[in-house]
Amino acid sequence: MYDPNPLLLLLLMSMCLVPPVSPAAPTLSVIVMRHCVRSAPLSVYSGLPEFSSLDNYTSTPFPPFPVDDMMCLPNGITLVENVGSQLALPPGPVVVEVDTDAQRDVDTAAALMRGLSLDQDMISSPCLFDPESCGACEAVDPARKAAAVTERLEEFPKPAGFEELVEEMQAVMGTGAAPAMQDIDDFVCSDDGYWEGGTSVASDAVEYWLMQMGGGLEVAWGELSKEDVYRFLEAHVYWRSVQERTLDLSARSHSYMAREIVGTLAGGAGGARIMVGHDSDLDAVATIFGLEWRTPPFPANATTPGAGVRFDLFEDQVRAVVFYQALDGGAELLQADAKWTWGGEGGAAVGLEELQEWIKGRVTTECVL
Ligand SMILES: *[C@@H]1O[C@H](CO)[C@@H](O)[C@H](O)[C@H]1NC(C)=O
Ligand SMILES: *[C@@H]1O[C@H](CO)[C@@H](O)[C@H](O)[C@H]1NC(C)=O
Repeated sequence: MYDPNPLLLLLLMSMCLVPPVSPAAPTLSVIVMRHCVRSAPLSVYSGLPEFSSLDNYTSTPFPPFPVDDMMCLPNGITLVENVGSQLALPPGPVVVEVDTDAQRDVDTAAALMRGLSLDQDMISSPCLFDPESCGACEAVDPARKAAAVTERLEEFPKPAGFEELVEEMQAVMGTGAAPAMQDIDDFVCSDDGYWEGGTSVASDAVEYWLMQMGGGLEVAWGELSKEDVYRFLEAHVYWRSVQERTLDLSARSHSYMAREIVGTLAGGAGGARIMVGHDSDLDAVATIFGLEWRTPPFPANATTPGAGVRFDLFEDQVRAVVFYQALDGGAELLQADAKWTWGGEGGAAVGLEELQEWIKGRVTTECVL
């Protein structure tokens, strides 16, 4: 008969109970955050010059937003204040750097700092977000941009059931003056390297609805549930996954930011460095750092307003998480692990040195200050 050794049993039990070794709180965080829920423009890149307004694709015009184009909606400001009041930052100094070329980013940073109860100045760092506009390099050659986006479009899988999704969206919009979105060919414009056509219009339409929803306004003429908006957002994420996630262009525009992020993590100080920018910053950072995420109820890899990628340093390990809000009327700050697609145990954390090596192979010196 099996007679267990009580000491061995105790040892086995304690082995099972030992939690994975990871200190409780990070000592340093570097955050790249997208601005507020804002008003969305009506202009679209359909490839059909006579139909360059979203209103050309609907039977009823989109209602205007109560603020100027691209400005934070009042509810968007409130949501960002709530992000600030719920973000637990490591002890130490906090630095907030902002793309001050965009008023919505200035307004977002101010709201975030109110939420964080930070009484200090934000730092104007437009070059961090767009070194090209600061003269670090020439404007990108449109042919190179078009080639990168075309290649990405060919290799990146179209989401399952995508045509049906776009048809469903068009049915919600009703028949407009323009052809239906599903009947407009997709193409990459050689003049500017932009992916235009039906998918681009669908991407803009659902972003308009998302901003209405996050802004606490009527969504899609009262025709859509929150779940519909979350589902249709796939069109926007898909478009961005092609347009904004090529390594060539991301490395060109964001090697400077990537080096700053890794340099700060390696610098050993405590506290937090927060960069307030755009969804394009989140897309580029995801591309260079090799990150993917699921932030339910949104589709995978969504870069929603008020969301941020957060790099947390735990001793010599870096964990990446995404914080976000559901934009459904609540203000709760949600959080999901971002996964390193290339390393780390279970993708949850990577060694700082390992990360430094990885980034070396991803960045360029082409457009850095
Ligand atoms: C497209 O929409 C705009 C804005 O509503 C309108 O001025 C224009 O006439 C429309 N174009 C066509 C061809 O109907
Ligand atoms: C999310 O991003 C990762 C990394 O780029 C990619 O491998 C994955 O296919 C994306 N997921 C979806 C559903 O697009």
